[in-house]
Amino acid sequence: MIDTAATITGNAEAAQIVGPPTRGPQPVSITLNVNGAERTLQVEPRMTLAEALRGPLRLTGTKVACNRGACSACTVWLDGATVCSCMLLALDVGTRRVTTIEGLAHGDVLHPVQAAFIEHDALQCGFCTPGMVLSCAALLERTSDVTAEDVRAAISGHYCRCGTYPHVVAATLAAASTRKSGT
Ligand code: FES
Ligand code: FES
Repeated sequence: MIDTAATITGNAEAAQIVGPPTRGPQPVSITLNVNGAERTLQVEPRMTLAEALRGPLRLTGTKVACNRGACSACTVWLDGATVCSCMLLALDVGTRRVTTIEGLAHGDVLHPVQAAFIEHDALQCGFCTPGMVLSCAALLERTSDVTAEDVRAAISGHYCRCGTYPHVVAATLAAASTRKSGT
């Protein structure tokens, strides 16, 4: 690592200034709050959240397709906001709450969006589905007063090679209506 202070000042004392602690390349221990539970695991500093979820934590509901932030298949919630977990290092999650598709239902009771996806046949191969569900559910957590345009905006970053988009929109509108009527 270049010692910037010493380089700029030419001061030998400045060479004593130390930067932030270096972590890795060997695995380090971190604790993540995932689906309401504290999980301690070993991660290499280069490991993404998606890799940590699918590997050490065995939560394979989160899918990885492009692995470069282009398809949203790997969407999870971080403190309730949607993020692409392939674009975030597990080390950088800190104390923020991670919610994956496995954590969306309450026991045997599906989230209204999950139930509506089944009802409206809003999936084919299912590879994009966990991410789609989490984005649509995040929309409904913000408001039940949604339009088709709102749903299309919520899933605008999601690629579905099977072309389920119209069914996803219909399912999410139905879920919003269910939630609004309290049934
Ligand atoms: S797998 Fe993360 S955005 Fe495609
Ligand atoms: S259901 Fe197959 S990619 Fe969306």
